[in-house]
Amino acid sequence: MRTIGVVTSGGDAPGMNAAIRAVTRIAYSKKYQVYGFERGWEGLITNTFKPLTPRSVGGIIQLGGTILHTLRCPDFKTQKGIRKAAKTLAANHVDGLVVIGGNGSFSGALELSKITDTLTVGIPASIDNDVYGTDETIGFDTAVNTAVVEIDKIRDTAISHERVFIVEVMGRTRGFIASTVGLTVGAEIILVPEVKTRTVSILKVINENSVKGKKSGIIVAAEGIGDTRALAQEIEKKTGSEVRLSILGYAQRGGSPTARSRLLASLFADRAIELLSQEQGGKIVGLKNGKIAVTDLKESCEKEKPLDLGLLKLAKVLAT
Ligand code: F6P
Repeated sequence: MRTIGVVTSGGDAPGMNAAIRAVTRIAYSKKYQVYGFERGWEGLITNTFKPLTPRSVGGIIQLGGTILHTLRCPDFKTQKGIRKAAKTLAANHVDGLVVIGGNGSFSGALELSKITDTLTVGIPASIDNDVYGTDETIGFDTAVNTAVVEIDKIRDTAISHERVFIVEVMGRTRGFIASTVGLTVGAEIILVPEVKTRTVSILKVINENSVKGKKSGIIVAAEGIGDTRALAQEIEKKTGSEVRLSILGYAQRGGSPTARSRLLASLFADRAIELLSQEQGGKIVGLKNGKIAVTDLKESCEKEKPLDLGLLKLAKVLAT
Protein backbone atom coordinates (compact mmCIF):
# COMPACT_ATOMS: atom_id res chain seq x y z
CA MET A 1 0.00 0.00 0.00
CA ARG A 2 1.38 3.39 -1.03
CA THR A 3 -1.53 5.82 -1.22
CA ILE A 4 -4.42 6.29 1.14
CA GLY A 5 -7.45 8.46 0.38
CA VAL A 6 -9.57 9.99 3.09
CA VAL A 7 -13.04 11.47 2.75
CA THR A 8 -15.58 12.94 5.16
CA SER A 9 -19.14 12.44 4.04
CA GLY A 10 -22.72 13.11 5.15
CA GLY A 11 -23.52 15.36 8.11
CA ASP A 12 -20.44 16.76 9.79
CA ALA A 13 -19.60 15.73 13.34
CA PRO A 14 -17.21 17.30 15.85
CA GLY A 15 -14.05 15.21 15.81
CA MET A 16 -13.94 14.62 12.06
CA ASN A 17 -10.91 16.91 11.87
CA ALA A 18 -9.20 15.01 14.67
CA ALA A 19 -9.79 11.85 12.62
CA ILE A 20 -8.37 13.41 9.42
CA ARG A 21 -5.32 14.52 11.37
CA ALA A 22 -4.78 11.10 12.92
CA VAL A 23 -5.33 9.22 9.64
CA THR A 24 -2.78 11.46 7.92
CA ARG A 25 -0.12 11.32 10.59
CA ILE A 26 -0.42 7.61 11.24
CA ALA A 27 -0.37 6.88 7.50
CA TYR A 28 2.73 9.02 7.10
CA SER A 29 4.44 7.22 9.96
CA LYS A 30 4.00 4.08 7.84
CA LYS A 31 5.38 5.86 4.74
CA TYR A 32 2.08 6.19 2.86
CA GLN A 33 1.01 9.34 1.09
CA VAL A 34 -2.47 10.69 1.81
CA TYR A 35 -5.02 12.35 -0.47
CA GLY A 36 -7.94 14.20 1.09
CA PHE A 37 -10.99 14.07 -1.19
CA GLU A 38 -13.07 17.23 -0.88
CA ARG A 39 -16.82 17.74 -0.38
CA GLY A 40 -17.62 14.16 0.48
CA TRP A 41 -18.33 11.71 -2.33
CA GLU A 42 -18.47 14.61 -4.76
CA GLY A 43 -14.69 14.84 -4.52
CA LEU A 44 -14.40 11.28 -5.74
CA ILE A 45 -16.85 11.84 -8.55
CA THR A 46 -15.13 15.04 -9.75
CA ASN A 47 -11.59 13.93 -8.90
CA THR A 48 -11.09 16.79 -6.46
CA PHE A 49 -8.54 16.17 -3.76
CA LYS A 50 -5.57 17.70 -2.02
CA PRO A 51 -2.51 15.96 -0.67
CA LEU A 52 -2.51 15.93 3.12
CA THR A 53 0.71 15.98 5.09
CA PRO A 54 1.48 15.91 8.81
CA ARG A 55 2.01 19.69 8.59
CA SER A 56 -1.13 20.49 6.61
CA VAL A 57 -3.29 18.84 9.26
CA GLY A 58 -1.67 20.84 12.08
CA GLY A 59 -3.86 22.98 14.34
CA ILE A 60 -7.14 21.22 13.53
CA ILE A 61 -7.59 18.72 16.37
CA GLN A 62 -9.68 21.25 18.30
CA LEU A 63 -11.84 22.37 15.38
CA GLY A 64 -15.43 21.29 14.73
CA GLY A 65 -16.61 20.65 11.17
CA THR A 66 -14.28 19.16 8.58
CA ILE A 67 -11.44 20.85 6.69
CA LEU A 68 -12.27 18.61 3.72
CA HIS A 69 -15.88 19.87 3.67
CA THR A 70 -18.76 17.48 3.31
CA LEU A 71 -22.12 17.18 1.63
CA ARG A 72 -24.93 14.78 1.04
CA CYS A 73 -24.22 13.74 -2.54
CA PRO A 74 -27.25 12.58 -4.57
CA ASP A 75 -25.02 11.63 -7.56
CA PHE A 76 -23.30 9.04 -5.44
CA LYS A 77 -26.61 7.23 -5.08
CA THR A 78 -26.49 6.43 -8.82
CA GLN A 79 -24.43 3.68 -10.48
CA LYS A 80 -22.99 6.32 -12.80
CA GLY A 81 -21.68 8.33 -9.84
CA ILE A 82 -20.24 5.28 -8.13
CA ARG A 83 -18.49 4.21 -11.35
CA LYS A 84 -16.94 7.68 -11.66
CA ALA A 85 -15.68 7.44 -8.08
CA ALA A 86 -14.13 4.04 -8.78
CA LYS A 87 -12.40 5.50 -11.84
CA THR A 88 -10.99 8.35 -9.75
CA LEU A 89 -9.55 5.90 -7.26
CA ALA A 90 -7.96 3.82 -10.01
CA ALA A 91 -6.61 6.84 -11.91
CA ASN A 92 -4.88 8.14 -8.77
CA HIS A 93 -3.65 4.70 -7.68
CA VAL A 94 -5.42 4.95 -4.34
CA ASP A 95 -4.82 1.63 -2.57
CA GLY A 96 -6.92 2.29 0.53
CA LEU A 97 -9.81 4.62 1.28
CA VAL A 98 -10.82 5.78 4.76
CA VAL A 99 -14.44 6.91 4.88
CA ILE A 100 -15.25 9.11 7.88
CA GLY A 101 -19.02 9.37 8.27
CA GLY A 102 -22.24 7.69 9.35
CA ASN A 103 -24.73 5.18 8.00
CA GLY A 104 -25.35 6.86 4.65
CA SER A 105 -21.63 7.20 3.99
CA PHE A 106 -21.06 3.56 4.81
CA SER A 107 -23.84 2.42 2.46
CA GLY A 108 -22.11 4.42 -0.27
CA ALA A 109 -18.76 2.90 0.67
CA LEU A 110 -20.27 -0.59 0.45
CA GLU A 111 -21.58 0.03 -3.07
CA LEU A 112 -18.24 1.50 -4.11
CA SER A 113 -16.30 -1.42 -2.62
CA LYS A 114 -18.20 -3.79 -4.96
CA ILE A 115 -16.63 -2.27 -8.07
CA THR A 116 -13.19 -1.10 -6.99
CA ASP A 117 -9.95 -2.79 -5.99
CA THR A 118 -9.30 -0.01 -3.49
CA LEU A 119 -9.72 -1.32 0.04
CA THR A 120 -12.27 0.59 2.09
CA VAL A 121 -12.39 1.11 5.84
CA GLY A 122 -15.05 3.16 7.65
CA ILE A 123 -14.54 5.37 10.70
CA PRO A 124 -17.93 6.08 12.33
CA ALA A 125 -18.48 9.80 12.81
CA SER A 126 -22.01 11.11 13.35
CA ILE A 127 -23.67 12.98 16.17
CA ASP A 128 -26.61 10.52 15.92
CA ASN A 129 -24.62 7.52 17.25
CA ASP A 130 -26.76 5.22 15.11
CA VAL A 131 -24.05 3.14 13.44
CA TYR A 132 -24.18 -0.62 13.97
CA GLY A 133 -20.78 -1.99 15.03
CA THR A 134 -19.79 0.70 17.48
CA ASP A 135 -21.08 1.66 20.91
CA GLU A 136 -20.16 5.24 20.13
CA THR A 137 -19.52 7.40 17.10
CA ILE A 138 -17.14 10.34 16.87
CA GLY A 139 -19.08 13.53 17.66
CA PHE A 140 -21.83 11.97 19.76
CA ASP A 141 -20.25 12.94 23.07
CA THR A 142 -19.71 16.52 21.88
CA ALA A 143 -23.31 16.87 20.67
CA VAL A 144 -24.63 15.44 23.93
CA ASN A 145 -22.54 17.85 25.98
CA THR A 146 -23.65 20.80 23.84
CA ALA A 147 -27.28 19.85 24.40
CA VAL A 148 -26.75 19.38 28.13
CA VAL A 149 -25.20 22.84 28.52
CA GLU A 150 -28.16 24.42 26.70
CA ILE A 151 -30.84 22.46 28.55
CA ASP A 152 -29.32 23.33 31.94
CA LYS A 153 -29.94 26.96 30.99
CA ILE A 154 -33.48 26.23 29.87
CA ARG A 155 -34.07 24.52 33.22
CA ASP A 156 -33.47 27.85 34.98
CA THR A 157 -36.30 29.48 33.04
CA ALA A 158 -38.52 26.43 33.42
CA ILE A 159 -38.16 26.61 37.21
CA SER A 160 -38.59 30.37 37.57
CA HIS A 161 -41.64 30.50 35.32
CA GLU A 162 -43.02 27.14 36.45
CA ARG A 163 -43.27 26.06 32.82
CA VAL A 164 -42.95 22.82 30.98
CA PHE A 165 -40.41 22.85 28.18
CA ILE A 166 -40.15 20.45 25.32
CA VAL A 167 -36.57 20.48 24.09
CA GLU A 168 -36.13 18.86 20.71
CA VAL A 169 -32.74 17.32 20.04
CA MET A 170 -31.34 15.82 16.83
CA GLY A 171 -30.84 12.14 16.07
CA ARG A 172 -32.63 11.72 12.76
CA THR A 173 -34.87 8.64 13.18
CA ARG A 174 -33.19 7.43 16.37
CA GLY A 175 -33.21 8.29 20.06
CA PHE A 176 -29.57 7.92 21.07
CA ILE A 177 -28.97 11.63 21.65
CA ALA A 178 -32.36 12.10 23.36
CA SER A 179 -31.95 9.21 25.77
CA THR A 180 -28.43 10.15 26.89
CA VAL A 181 -29.21 13.86 27.06
CA GLY A 182 -32.54 13.22 28.79
CA LEU A 183 -30.96 11.14 31.52
CA THR A 184 -28.07 13.52 32.08
CA VAL A 185 -30.20 16.67 32.37
CA GLY A 186 -32.67 14.94 34.68
CA ALA A 187 -35.54 15.23 32.19
CA GLU A 188 -38.97 14.43 33.59
CA ILE A 189 -39.93 12.77 30.31
CA ILE A 190 -37.87 11.44 27.39
CA LEU A 191 -39.50 10.83 24.03
CA VAL A 192 -37.75 8.65 21.46
CA PRO A 193 -38.98 7.16 18.18
CA GLU A 194 -38.15 3.63 19.35
CA VAL A 195 -40.78 3.80 22.13
CA LYS A 196 -44.24 5.00 21.25
CA THR A 197 -45.51 7.26 24.04
CA ARG A 198 -49.15 8.28 24.06
CA THR A 199 -49.99 11.87 24.91
CA VAL A 200 -52.14 10.70 27.83
CA SER A 201 -49.07 9.19 29.49
CA ILE A 202 -47.22 12.49 29.10
CA LEU A 203 -50.16 14.38 30.61
CA LYS A 204 -50.30 11.90 33.47
CA VAL A 205 -46.66 12.52 34.40
CA ILE A 206 -47.09 16.30 34.19
CA ASN A 207 -50.21 16.19 36.36
CA GLU A 208 -48.66 13.84 38.93
CA ASN A 209 -45.60 16.08 39.14
CA SER A 210 -47.79 19.13 39.61
CA VAL A 211 -49.64 17.45 42.48
CA LYS A 212 -46.25 16.63 44.05
CA GLY A 213 -45.34 20.31 43.86
CA LYS A 214 -43.16 20.02 40.77
CA LYS A 215 -44.67 22.73 38.59
CA SER A 216 -41.96 22.81 35.94
CA GLY A 217 -40.51 20.13 33.77
CA ILE A 218 -38.23 19.29 30.91
CA ILE A 219 -39.33 16.92 28.18
CA VAL A 220 -36.44 15.90 25.97
CA ALA A 221 -37.80 14.81 22.60
CA ALA A 222 -35.90 13.27 19.71
CA GLU A 223 -36.61 15.00 16.41
CA GLY A 224 -37.67 11.61 15.04
CA ILE A 225 -40.84 11.47 17.16
CA GLY A 226 -42.65 13.88 14.83
CA ASP A 227 -44.25 17.28 15.28
CA THR A 228 -43.05 18.62 18.64
CA ARG A 229 -44.75 21.98 18.07
CA ALA A 230 -48.15 20.33 17.80
CA LEU A 231 -47.33 18.26 20.87
CA ALA A 232 -46.45 21.38 22.88
CA GLN A 233 -49.74 23.00 21.89
CA GLU A 234 -51.71 19.91 22.80
CA ILE A 235 -50.07 19.61 26.22
CA GLU A 236 -50.65 23.30 26.91
CA LYS A 237 -54.32 22.98 25.99
CA LYS A 238 -54.89 19.87 28.05
CA THR A 239 -52.93 20.80 31.19
CA GLY A 240 -53.50 24.54 31.30
CA SER A 241 -49.78 24.93 32.11
CA GLU A 242 -47.51 27.14 30.05
CA VAL A 243 -45.60 24.95 27.63
CA ARG A 244 -42.71 26.14 25.48
CA LEU A 245 -40.79 24.42 22.72
CA SER A 246 -37.07 24.86 22.17
CA ILE A 247 -35.47 23.22 19.13
CA LEU A 248 -31.72 22.98 19.72
CA GLY A 249 -30.92 22.29 16.05
CA TYR A 250 -27.57 22.61 14.34
CA ALA A 251 -25.65 23.90 17.37
CA GLN A 252 -25.42 20.20 18.23
CA ARG A 253 -23.42 19.52 15.05
CA GLY A 254 -20.69 22.10 15.59
CA GLY A 255 -18.20 23.28 18.15
CA SER A 256 -14.89 22.07 19.46
CA PRO A 257 -14.89 18.30 19.94
CA THR A 258 -14.74 17.03 23.51
CA ALA A 259 -11.69 15.11 24.67
CA ARG A 260 -13.70 11.92 24.25
CA SER A 261 -14.60 12.67 20.62
CA ARG A 262 -10.93 13.47 19.90
CA LEU A 263 -9.77 10.31 21.65
CA LEU A 264 -12.17 8.11 19.68
CA ALA A 265 -11.08 9.82 16.46
CA SER A 266 -7.44 9.05 17.18
CA LEU A 267 -8.03 5.44 18.26
CA PHE A 268 -10.35 4.69 15.32
CA ALA A 269 -7.85 6.18 12.85
CA ASP A 270 -5.04 4.11 14.31
CA ARG A 271 -7.00 0.90 13.82
CA ALA A 272 -8.23 1.89 10.37
CA ILE A 273 -4.70 2.45 9.08
CA GLU A 274 -3.56 -0.75 10.72
CA LEU A 275 -6.30 -2.65 8.84
CA LEU A 276 -5.30 -1.09 5.53
CA SER A 277 -1.63 -1.84 6.15
CA GLN A 278 -2.66 -5.47 6.62
CA GLU A 279 -4.49 -5.27 3.26
CA GLN A 280 -7.89 -5.62 4.95
CA GLY A 281 -10.86 -3.72 3.51
CA GLY A 282 -14.65 -3.89 3.69
CA LYS A 283 -14.57 -3.13 7.43
CA ILE A 284 -15.54 -0.44 9.88
CA VAL A 285 -13.74 0.23 13.13
CA GLY A 286 -15.62 0.96 16.33
CA LEU A 287 -15.80 0.75 20.09
CA LYS A 288 -17.28 -2.34 21.70
CA ASN A 289 -17.35 -2.75 25.47
CA GLY A 290 -14.53 -0.26 25.87
CA LYS A 291 -12.26 -1.85 23.27
CA ILE A 292 -11.53 -0.93 19.67
CA ALA A 293 -13.23 -3.53 17.49
CA VAL A 294 -13.77 -4.28 13.81
CA THR A 295 -17.07 -5.08 12.06
CA ASP A 296 -17.77 -6.00 8.42
CA LEU A 297 -18.92 -2.98 6.46
CA LYS A 298 -21.77 -5.02 4.99
CA GLU A 299 -22.97 -6.12 8.43
CA SER A 300 -22.83 -2.54 9.69
CA CYS A 301 -24.96 -1.39 6.75
CA GLU A 302 -27.49 -4.18 7.10
CA LYS A 303 -28.07 -4.22 10.85
CA GLU A 304 -29.76 -1.70 13.07
CA LYS A 305 -28.08 -0.66 16.29
CA PRO A 306 -30.41 -1.23 19.24
CA LEU A 307 -31.22 1.59 21.65
CA ASP A 308 -30.43 0.87 25.29
CA LEU A 309 -33.92 0.97 26.80
CA GLY A 310 -32.35 0.59 30.25
CA LEU A 311 -31.29 4.23 30.06
CA LEU A 312 -34.92 5.30 29.68
CA LYS A 313 -36.01 3.16 32.62
CA LEU A 314 -33.27 4.57 34.80
CA ALA A 315 -34.05 8.13 33.74
CA LYS A 316 -37.66 7.59 34.80
CA VAL A 317 -36.63 6.46 38.29
CA LEU A 318 -34.18 9.34 38.61
CA ALA A 319 -36.79 11.91 37.63
CA THR A 320 -39.26 11.12 40.38
O1 F6P B 1 -27.06 12.98 10.87
C1 F6P B 1 -26.83 14.14 11.58
C2 F6P B 1 -28.02 15.05 11.51
O2 F6P B 1 -27.69 16.26 12.16
C3 F6P B 1 -29.33 14.50 12.05
O3 F6P B 1 -29.38 14.52 13.44
C4 F6P B 1 -30.33 15.39 11.35
O4 F6P B 1 -31.58 14.76 11.24
C5 F6P B 1 -29.71 15.57 10.01
O5 F6P B 1 -28.32 15.36 10.17
C6 F6P B 1 -29.89 16.91 9.36
O6 F6P B 1 -29.41 16.82 8.06
P1 F6P B 1 -28.98 18.01 7.14
O7 F6P B 1 -27.60 18.45 7.57
O8 F6P B 1 -28.93 17.43 5.77
O9 F6P B 1 -29.97 19.10 7.32
